[in-house]
Amino acid sequence: MAHVDLSSDENYERESLLTHPKTATRRGLFWSAWLIFWGLVSMWAFATVRYLIPRVSYEPSDIFKAGRPEDYPMGSVTLISSRKVWIVREEKGLYALIAVCTHLSCQPRWLEKEQIFKCACHGGQFHKNGVNFAGPPPRPLDRVHISMSDDGRLLIDKGRKVGIDFTLPA
Ligand code: FES
Repeated sequence: MAHVDLSSDENYERESLLTHPKTATRRGLFWSAWLIFWGLVSMWAFATVRYLIPRVSYEPSDIFKAGRPEDYPMGSVTLISSRKVWIVREEKGLYALIAVCTHLSCQPRWLEKEQIFKCACHGGQFHKNGVNFAGPPPRPLDRVHISMSDDGRLLIDKGRKVGIDFTLPA
């Protein structure tokens, strides 16, 4: 019979596993319980952090104020670049157009001399009222809701599309 030197930890452990399988099972159970415990603690910590950090959208709101009607001279087309909206004032009143081409979303430019919007990407062109008349854009520029707020300023709602005839009398 071979003699095993049990003086080293490694040999003692090997011998112990061979002769006492229950010890091995208990040790496995202990480590499993330990892993489950820390798994649960981690899940709880993650859930707590998610709860404490609010899910806030930092996108600008679709609804914003855009000054007073008198800020927009008759016949003017004013780009609010931070919102990508044009405010147009005509005899009938004010309207708001989204400054995004309806072809592939480039930003057209207002050409004062020609009195048209022109998109440099593929040559799309729009009348002052937003109706497309040349190039690939398949439809007019989007017109969005404009109203007066209680404090006498214009209120634009980019999330609310309106028909091509929608105008705020002013
Ligand atoms: S993106 Fe404006 S014409 Fe194509």
